[in-house]
Amino acid sequence: MLSQKQNELVTLTGPGTPGGKLLRSYWQPVATDEEMPIGGAPLPVKIMNEELVLFRDDKDRLGLIGLHCAHRGTDLSYGRVENGGLRCLYHGWLFDVNGQCIDQPAEPEDKKFCHKVRQVSYPVQQKGGVIWAYMGEGEAPQIPNFDFLTAPLPHRKAFRVIQDSNWLQGLESSTDPSHVSYLHRLSPGPVGGSLPGGQARMFSEDPCPKLDIERTSFGVRIHALRKMADGQNYLRVNNYIYPCGTTPVSSEPPPVTGYQGRWYVPIDDHSHCRFEFIYSQKVPLDKEGFTAVRNQHVAPDGRHTRRLENRYLQDREEMKRGDTWTGLGRYAGAQDAFAIETAGVIQDRSQEHLGSTDIVIIELRKALLAAIKQMEDGKEAPGRLHDPAQNYFPDFICTADYIPDGEDGPAYCKRVLAQGPGSGPAKVAAE
Ligand code: FES
Ligand SMILES: [Fe+2]
Repeated sequence: MLSQKQNELVTLTGPGTPGGKLLRSYWQPVATDEEMPIGGAPLPVKIMNEELVLFRDDKDRLGLIGLHCAHRGTDLSYGRVENGGLRCLYHGWLFDVNGQCIDQPAEPEDKKFCHKVRQVSYPVQQKGGVIWAYMGEGEAPQIPNFDFLTAPLPHRKAFRVIQDSNWLQGLESSTDPSHVSYLHRLSPGPVGGSLPGGQARMFSEDPCPKLDIERTSFGVRIHALRKMADGQNYLRVNNYIYPCGTTPVSSEPPPVTGYQGRWYVPIDDHSHCRFEFIYSQKVPLDKEGFTAVRNQHVAPDGRHTRRLENRYLQDREEMKRGDTWTGLGRYAGAQDAFAIETAGVIQDRSQEHLGSTDIVIIELRKALLAAIKQMEDGKEAPGRLHDPAQNYFPDFICTADYIPDGEDGPAYCKRVLAQGPGSGPAKVAAE
């Protein structure tokens, strides 16, 4: 439970807010590469309550500048890409990728004041299949070299989906190890019952996992240990990455073949983009398969087809028949959207009742509140990396495995990390 004041601190991210200052201290994804093809149209994007336009100029340089023309406010995303910039359709003012006005054709030659006019603009760069923006003050840190961003292209693919809730509800759901036994339960059997193989079995046979958390250089490591009906100890290791990232591991029975990176980026205080970085460690990803499944569940407006307006198409006959446990279909992304969006656009955390299985949620909020305080005290936000040579994570592990009796999650990670997996350039080079 948080006080109203604490809840505002960790949820509001508009310009000038403490939470917004924290999130702006890191690079944030704003669009996928596929949304910005060479020669493509400018894309309006809203990030943390700031209305911006992402565009490629006629030399294919990317720019992220204010959406509303500095002249009299017209929407620049409708503009013409030409002459080294983006030209407003109202009176023809032209802005380059840095937001600088470089032409005012409606002004007499001797009255032009281009050099004095500038749109807000932010640096951008491409990495991991998305375009990232740095909207903070001072020197930008590195974009972290996690494998899901740096692995060879056949092994990874990025998507994004819009969700109608505050960003923190999305982040919290992704770090919460308990909900998978319920919300993502695919089998109709009783909670805690023994089920045939696959995801249903992994999550449902022990609906009350033993949880452990550890602080890491990049955030928090999360362990969930389940006792399977056949006596095996099934461990899942996920992560929280500062300030709005997670890495949920695949739900397939071990040995797992991959995991996802996720970033929950506020659009405004009431909606956010969930960026998904699908990563297959050993074999090339079935990108067509992932795309086909996603396209069945995400509408052209970028939101799930199951949404609040249609009560998530819940089918109680499906539930009664036992085809699914929730009556919400079998797509986990839509199930997550249901859970977070129906908690209210900004969940009132002063009214909740946290249980012992919410230790991860509590730790996550502590980490965020401490990071905000750290910045308010004039210190650097946690986990920001400046030295490219140090941009790797020897303490990173994201996996699921069967572990010996008597071993717990932290002991397992210590043992495995001693063999040197981690994440970063060395690992990528080795693959
Ligand atoms: S409003 Fe954009 S040029 Fe006038
Ligand atoms: Fe989930």
